[in-house]
Amino acid sequence: MGARIGVIGLGRIGSYHARNLLGMDGVDTLIVTDADPSRTSDVSTELDVPAAPNPDALFESGVDAVLIAASSGSHAELIEAAVDRGIPTFCEKPVADSIESSLRALRAVEQTAVPVQIGFQRRFDPGLISAYNAVRAGDLGWLHTLRSTTLDPAPPPVSYIARSGGIFRDCAIHDFDIIRWVSGQEVTSVFATGANQGDPAIAEAGDVDTGAAVLTLDGGTLAVVSTTRYNARGYDSRLEVLGSADSVVAGLDEQLPLRSVDPGAQFPSGVPHSFFMDRFAAAYRAELEAFVDVVAGRRTSPCTPADAVESAWIAEAAALSLHGGRSVTIAEVKELVLQTEKEASS
Ligand SMILES: NC(=O)c1ccc[n+]([C@@H]2O[C@H](COP(=O)([O-])OP(=O)(O)OC[C@H]3O[C@@H](n4cnc5c(N)ncnc54)[C@H](O)[C@@H]3O)[C@@H](O)[C@H]2O)c1
Repeated sequence: MGARIGVIGLGRIGSYHARNLLGMDGVDTLIVTDADPSRTSDVSTELDVPAAPNPDALFESGVDAVLIAASSGSHAELIEAAVDRGIPTFCEKPVADSIESSLRALRAVEQTAVPVQIGFQRRFDPGLISAYNAVRAGDLGWLHTLRSTTLDPAPPPVSYIARSGGIFRDCAIHDFDIIRWVSGQEVTSVFATGANQGDPAIAEAGDVDTGAAVLTLDGGTLAVVSTTRYNARGYDSRLEVLGSADSVVAGLDEQLPLRSVDPGAQFPSGVPHSFFMDRFAAAYRAELEAFVDVVAGRRTSPCTPADAVESAWIAEAAALSLHGGRSVTIAEVKELVLQTEKEASS
């Protein structure tokens, strides 16, 4: 018999995940909820699945697992509520909208044996898996540089940005995760900067519409992250892994949203990727198939909260660097946050 999975948060990604889950091997049925009752009823009607009026009612309805795709600010509380009840959980990235809440959720998870998977879908992208394997096989020699690019075609609503934790915690966190995962190295310091030339409401919400960061890795490799909310040609997510013996790139396909101006160049010739849903369609499906296996006890979580919190530290350092105008070490951020926590509890 398959699992009954509760989906909490039915916005852009939650409704997409719900459609992917429905009909997947190992999934019997869904139950859905959103803080916005009209969204709950729209998705419940569209997918012909039952609705719950709120997360508590969903938890109590006898689900085998939950998928949390609500706004980042509610992740920590929902993860805690799910693991307290012993319910296997998939939660979208980031673990939470701040490092403090991420640590709170992590501690709650670690007090239980309940499996939790965080939604870093890039780890399931075929190209990025090949890059990971090339590094593990030693094919690239020593890595001098990684370049990770995440360019959104258009900004999400400002209401989303205001609750997102900022571009580094919300968007570049995917780059931080994939840099760690592919290189097998930890980040030691971050220099980040940002700019606003688009909707002034983004700056008013305390964020930047374009960001860049230089990361130093503990194996001696440098990484460069580039991200924006304004790349009208399409959704561009690439990882270049450049080594002393060879170099590879994931995401350099015919749908790359770049227009070559070199005479005679034919590449790329396809329709540009329009958004993360089409660029990472296979990866989103594969991460949920993995989660169904986690729920069935066939595998352990492929991306634990502890693993995901490592990227949250990098995002925290990037946010501090952006606002402080200087390079920030991960050790310094950890000390600062843990010291503040200690003072608050004494
Ligand atoms: N992995 C990825 O590539 C990816 C892509 C997009 C979004 N995300 C993440 O998914 C989450 C949702 O993003 P989105 O783009 O779908 O946002 P969205 O604003 O479109 O949807 C969020 C939904 O959550 C609902 N919600 C908020 N708080 C809730 C709560 N406490 N209980 C129930 N519902 C609640 C809102 O009403 C809304 O419908 C964010 O954490 C985001 O970082 C991940």
